[in-house]
This record gives sequence, structure tokens and C-alpha cells, in this order.
Amino acid sequence: MSKKATIKDAKVRNQNVLVRVDYNVPMEDGEITDDLRIRASLPTIEYLIKKGARRIILISHLGRPGGKKVKELSLKPVAERLAALLPDRKVGFIDDVSGPDVEEAVKKTPVGGIILLENLRFFPGEEKNSAEFAREIAECTGADLFVQDGFAVIHRAHASTDAITRELPSVAGLLVKKEVSALQKVATSPDHPFVIIIGGAKVDDKQPLIDKLSPLADAIFVGGKIAADGYSSNSPKIHVCDTFVEDGEGGKRDIGEPCIEALLKLCENAKTVLWNGTLGETEKPEFAKGSERLADYLGSHPEITTVVCGGDTAGFVENYLKSHPGLSFSLISTGGGASLELLSALPLPGLDNLDETN
Ligand code: 3PG
Repeated sequence: MSKKATIKDAKVRNQNVLVRVDYNVPMEDGEITDDLRIRASLPTIEYLIKKGARRIILISHLGRPGGKKVKELSLKPVAERLAALLPDRKVGFIDDVSGPDVEEAVKKTPVGGIILLENLRFFPGEEKNSAEFAREIAECTGADLFVQDGFAVIHRAHASTDAITRELPSVAGLLVKKEVSALQKVATSPDHPFVIIIGGAKVDDKQPLIDKLSPLADAIFVGGKIAADGYSSNSPKIHVCDTFVEDGEGGKRDIGEPCIEALLKLCENAKTVLWNGTLGETEKPEFAKGSERLADYLGSHPEITTVVCGGDTAGFVENYLKSHPGLSFSLISTGGGASLELLSALPLPGLDNLDETN
């Protein structure tokens, strides 16, 4: 990240700035159930306002509509939430991403104003990484600068993450800078002892991370469904949970008390902890104890650099924080797949193609 240009290196004053955010937020019956990703985009937006950007044009996807308009996946409710979070600003919305209507709507956006365009994935050009689609967006918005601030989507090679960087000067936003720097530090030069905690269900997604980071780790704890399904390893560093809280039918739903104790003991001297994957079925309170005890411990030890990543884990911790506001974590990543791919050292088109500083 150190060589990648950020908005702090770019001319912003009087510029139309096109910002790729990730507003792929969970929704239920048209209501946003977690606005972490919207709140996480505010520092970049506020920075651009402060530095005198002429207009801020936000682009994002929501869900996987497959190149077709799907009413339930419109970004309109997101524009409303953003407007509520920025009460002093006018936040507009237009139900398209290119063409004369968008051109007109951008021109009508007052100087210093913000406009969110419709879901990029309503259009096939987005996921096809179409140069033409990216050019249309750049042209009709009159953008002078592209800012990549959708950390959660930097692992995708789409028009709004990849092709667009060949149309406009392209720099990272503050969220991308913050998350990439924190995750790269963990993945390359963590302070030791370094403990990795893996949970969740999909072993195929986590194995590249375990393979990549185990030489750096001092200990790795494996819980969650992966352990319940019988994960095994010969490495003396890897501790696989072997006692579980069971449901009435003998299903293993959470890590058991002896494993919670062993896990907290591993964390006792840690200087860095990376936590990816919940340790039990946290959506049911009776199977959330392992993850709650871990969150209590890590969140009340600020001397430990704790990085929480993975969609379910971040969602669980964010939700837990609502009832335990005293806890704090170094980073709760907004990216699921993106953070895993970064930690596994896989290519990140949305980052790799940004401009470099001289
Ligand atoms: C995410 O939620 O992980 C990102 O928004 C990327 O979404 P995708 O997996 O549908 O590309």
C-alpha cells in the first residue's frame, strides 16, 4: 500500500470525484439491517468535502442482480441512510449509472453536493469489466478523479474496480488505505506472539490463509463448523477445538468450555490477534458463548492489536458492540472475501491498478 497514491496525494479542489464505495449492505424487507459499510465510507466523503471537491459521485453494487434491474436491490434506501448520516449535506440519488439523465443529474448537483448512482450490477458491463461501460460512467459524470474506497470489493475485476482505472487518475480512499495497511501489517510483520483464530464453515476459503500465514503465526486455533466437521492438522502450532456444545441431537454447535479456556490462554500473551470466522452458530444466543467470550477478552485488551475479518465475524462483533459499547478492536474489516484474499496474498485488481506515488 505504501506506494499506492491516496486522496491525500491528489488534487481534489474543484474536481468532480467519482468514488467507488461498497454499499453492499444487508437488507430485510427494504430495511438496512447493518450500516457499517455506509458509516465506514464517511471519512473519505468528509475529507473530499473539506478539501473542496466540486461534486462527489458515489458508485456501488448491492447484491448479485446478474446484469438486470431488480427492484429490491435498488440503492435508493442506501442514499436515504447516507443522507441521514450527513444531515448538513444534500445527498441525491439517480436510478441509472450513465446516459443523459445522469449527466443532467450530476450537473444539477450543487457544488459540494453528493449523488449516489444506481446499482452498478443492474448492468452487464459491470461484471464483464467492460471498458466501454467504465468510459460511459467516467464521461457522463464529468469525473476528473477516481477514488477506490470500496475495500470489500477490491478483489473483484469489474468495470468499477478495474476498467475505470484506465479512464481516470485513480487513487485509494481513506477506508481502503486503513484496511489495507492494517491487514498487510498483520500478513507481513505482525508483532509477536501472533495468534490466528479461525472459525466459520468453509474450510476451502480459510485453508489458503492458514497455509500463507502459518509460518508467521505463533499459534493457530481452529473452531467453528470447520473444527466440528473434523478439521485436522499435524502442525504443533495448530490447535483444533475438540470439545463442543451440542444440541439435543448431538450436533456440534459451539466450542466447549475447555476449548474456550485454552483459546483465552493462547491470547493471554499475544501482541497480535487475527480473528476470522465465528466459533459457533452465533445467530442462536445459546451457541454464541465461545465467540462472545473471545470478543469480551480481545475487546477489553487494547494492548493487543486485534484484527477482526470475515463478513459473519465482523457482523457478529458489530452487533455485540451495540450491547457492549466499552469494547474496542483495532480493526473490524468491512471486507469478507477481500480481506481473506488480501491475507492469502491473492491478486487484488481494485488495488493493484491504482496509481503509484512518485
Ligand atoms: C462483499 O460483500 O463481500 C462484497 O460486496 C463483494 O460482493 P460479491 O461477493 O457479490 O462480489
